Amino acid sequence: MHFQWYPGHMTKAKRMMQENMKLIDLVIELVDARIPLSSRNPDIDELGRNKARVVLLNKADLAEERWNDAWSRYFEEQGFLAVKVNSKKGSGMKAIQNVIGEACREKIERDRKRGILNRPVRAMVVGIPNVGKSTFINALAGKACAKTGNKPGVTRGKQWIRLNRQVELLDTPGILWPKFEDQSVGLRLAFIGSIKDELLNTEELAAEFIWFMEEQYPGILEEKYCIEREADSYGMLLNIARSRNCLVRGNELDTEKAAVLLLDDFRNGRLGRITLERC
Ligand code: G4P
Repeated sequence: MHFQWYPGHMTKAKRMMQENMKLIDLVIELVDARIPLSSRNPDIDELGRNKARVVLLNKADLAEERWNDAWSRYFEEQGFLAVKVNSKKGSGMKAIQNVIGEACREKIERDRKRGILNRPVRAMVVGIPNVGKSTFINALAGKACAKTGNKPGVTRGKQWIRLNRQVELLDTPGILWPKFEDQSVGLRLAFIGSIKDELLNTEELAAEFIWFMEEQYPGILEEKYCIEREADSYGMLLNIARSRNCLVRGNELDTEKAAVLLLDDFRNGRLGRITLERC
């Protein structure tokens, strides 16, 4: 399966990101806990050079806990502060406040030495589409939602959310473009729904997903859909269609519908907590 991202999209996103980077001290990068590497855009390391950095494993509720812990350690070993989060439920927010404070400490100290006191640290949330940036901003800022903006000296049109005395958050997140020269990275992004399904052949995508599940989580699909194991993925998809009564023209099995149903079940956590990428 071969697919591409729109280059036009990338250029615009990158330009926006470069502009916003000039305004901030701290990058809060969201990755998807199910695919922590594939959902990162490595260009962020260059873009966010000289900034304090925090990595959040968002949608941790959808990924396996033991892998969430392993990935947290992985990012910490890379020198980032890392926290697992469920933005939808709002859990992990207290830990994040602490981590943000920690990430900012160096900056505040540097300012203090230069005689700059009480200048808030400015932060921006970044991540690829659908990783949960808006949900996270709402969860984090929900109560603190005192907006500051259009102050003299502040770039016009930018809105800042004051999180506490020390930190302000840009209210519009930075969109990173998914990056995949490697098709297996593209596939994982497609599984979680970060690449528009219209660009893809859904049945092929579902067949790839079934193959992954049979390798890494054998028995889950059989149990969930009350089906027999088949040697080939397409056979499994037919079984899912049969079991879920996905029919077209009266009695023909509708594998397209079964594919949508399967991917939807995975994306919404109905197959259980699944980590697609391991360290
Ligand atoms: P974005 O700004 O990065 O593009 O992402 P956004 O916040 O719009 O979130 C994309 C989807 O991910 C939303 O679902 C949102 O509810 C879900 N989401 C965000 N954080 C989490 C999380 O920690 N756990 C889980 N399970 N889901 C999360 P949606 O289907 O588009 O909308 P809705 O059904 O929630 O209304």
